[in-house]
Amino acid sequence: MQKSLEPEFVGRTYDDFLFRPQPGVVGSRREVALTARLTRRLRLELPVVSANMDSVTEAQMAKTLALEGGVGFVHRAMSIGAQAEQVARVKRSHGHVVEQPLCLPRDATIREARQFTRKHHITGILIEETRGGNVLAGLLSNRDMPWTDGLDDRRVEEFMTPVARLLTGRPEIAIGEAERMLFERRVEKLPLVDEQQRIRGLITKQDIILSRRRPHSAKDVKGRLLVGAAIGARGDFLERSAELLRAGVDVLLIDIAHGHSEVMRRAVDALRARFGDVELICGNVGTAEGAMFLKDIGADAIKVGIGPGRGCRTRLETAAGVPQLQAIREAWCAVGESLPVIADGGVKDDKDIFLALVCGASSVMLGSMLSGTDEAPGHVIEDPGSGQKRKIYRGMTSPQAVFEALYDESPDAVDAALDVPAEGQEVQIAYKGAVVDILHRIRGHLRSAVSYGGEESLAVIRAKVVETPLRYLVPLSAASRRESFRR
Ligand code: XMP
Repeated sequence: MQKSLEPEFVGRTYDDFLFRPQPGVVGSRREVALTARLTRRLRLELPVVSANMDSVTEAQMAKTLALEGGVGFVHRAMSIGAQAEQVARVKRSHGHVVEQPLCLPRDATIREARQFTRKHHITGILIEETRGGNVLAGLLSNRDMPWTDGLDDRRVEEFMTPVARLLTGRPEIAIGEAERMLFERRVEKLPLVDEQQRIRGLITKQDIILSRRRPHSAKDVKGRLLVGAAIGARGDFLERSAELLRAGVDVLLIDIAHGHSEVMRRAVDALRARFGDVELICGNVGTAEGAMFLKDIGADAIKVGIGPGRGCRTRLETAAGVPQLQAIREAWCAVGESLPVIADGGVKDDKDIFLALVCGASSVMLGSMLSGTDEAPGHVIEDPGSGQKRKIYRGMTSPQAVFEALYDESPDAVDAALDVPAEGQEVQIAYKGAVVDILHRIRGHLRSAVSYGGEESLAVIRAKVVETPLRYLVPLSAASRRESFRR
């Protein structure tokens, strides 16, 4: 049954409330679990996802997010092939088993091998008998790679460890057994082959160690990192989806500015007709009616946020929008726990994440908070005068982002796109270093918030608060807001 929005939420957003502390029960904050739902079927250990923006998420960001328990959404302002490659890069990394390891043929040159390792960021190459033949001939590890000059034109087969001397495993080998074999032979890579010596996978020591160190990582059933990708609702979106699914994407995000629209309905129908029950997030909406609409057309999660984003100008330019905490609450009142709500945009402080979650969101999407980091695409710009380091963060409809996304289109297409008034802008963000530090900080603050809330896990406190949040929220006056936030 749909609930009506509590009037106290009308016109309200994150800085309008504090959370009333409850008697504490947590012994150690490190024990506080933050498990939450991303979609109907996917769970996260950290309820944070990175925005599908060209200054926020490509493979590097998505990998780090998943390793820390969240998930990244690769943006779509690139060709279909390029976006699928970003997804494949995430799926190839850190799984228990690399399912389609990259290979070179035995007659490839050392020069080619060097370029190959640099391009794909790998430390060893499986060598096949013939290009594309997929029959294992050997392994060229970092240690095998000649480091003296003058050998670049020689063939990799002269330096590789040939298959006869190589430790290999069966495709269905258990991780524990693989681990033991790697340790006993003191080697780092275990190619998996079938009876005909065809390459069926690769297990690496590095991936096993990493997965043990990161018990919270977001992984699929095969132990590979989770990754999402954005698609549109028109044009090439079906071909794009097909390629992304082939690359192993776990969840598609139909991301359009006005998700409560017929364009969205048609897109969902077409995707369901072609790809069945693929995991599908739809957005953005900012109202109860919008949330109901997305539920009715079959979304697996709803993305909420019209205009709160740091790079957004929608509200300024069109007056369209709903204050973000109100929008989240409206969406939850409309759909309840029947499907998860992702709160997208406007998170400035870590406490905003907690408020979003207890008022109805299941996870939050972050753009600017994760931008300016090493993992965000783009270069660090150093101001020669002040020495300050910065990176660019920009709305996806900013003229700069629109222009770049269309660089290989015709000049007419670029002119037409730039004719539409921009609803996004570009800003320079102070360079912040590794995104892991930000994610650890968020995790720590969320755990503390749960502890102030008097519960032992996010799931429990959310279930307690979400039905009647006003019992726990303190509305702020201008003076109490100053007292709380001005430092
Ligand atoms: P934050 O506040 O986390 O917001 O930086 C990220 C979200 O902003 C949205 N976004 C836009 N909204 N015009 C808009 O109106 C734009 O050009 C634009 N670019 C991004 C998007 O929902 C993102 O996740």
